[in-house]
Amino acid sequence: MNDATLSLLYSKERIADEVSRLAQEINRDYAGSEILVVGILKGSFLFIADLVRQITVPMTIDFMRMASYGTETQSSGIVELRKDIELPVQGKHLLIIEDIVDSGLTLDTLYAKLMLKNPRSLKICTLIEKSCAREGTIKPDYVGISMDSGFIVGYGLDFNEQYRQLQDIFILE
Ligand code: IMP
Ligand code: MG
Repeated sequence: MNDATLSLLYSKERIADEVSRLAQEINRDYAGSEILVVGILKGSFLFIADLVRQITVPMTIDFMRMASYGTETQSSGIVELRKDIELPVQGKHLLIIEDIVDSGLTLDTLYAKLMLKNPRSLKICTLIEKSCAREGTIKPDYVGISMDSGFIVGYGLDFNEQYRQLQDIFILE
């Protein structure tokens, strides 16, 4: 693992620009409403922290944690709920905050679970969307950066729980 090579892909300045743009879109779309932000742990923890500080509509925040099994860089498609949401969802405008949508299977599972709780609306915001090999059916409403392929780390994203603390996003070679 120590011989993994990291190459800079998205700088912290690029990330900050995308976060600001997303916050502006969210502020515009939800003007006059209150939202319940649902952060998906662990990968989105830095994105959530940066994004919510630029959202100006009233909000409450809760977290869920999902885990998908598989090899180190490939999802198996089996998605497990590790921590459920605790705040009441019924009648709320939910905004899911994800780090990355890859196969889309995590998102499909999340979406189905939350829709059962009768939110007033449910939208998804992801920092990164991988455009290749999409298996899921649910599309994110807000996308920071679209990328083709490759495994990335940093700004919350991990490889074997490493590299989450990095300020920029790197491609793992
Ligand atoms: P899914 O394939 O869309 O279900 O994504 C499952 C999860 O795999 C994501 O929430 C991430 O935690 C992880 N993941 C997918 N692609 C990457 C990547 O390039 N780097 C780090 N984690 C990733
Ligand atoms: Mg992960």
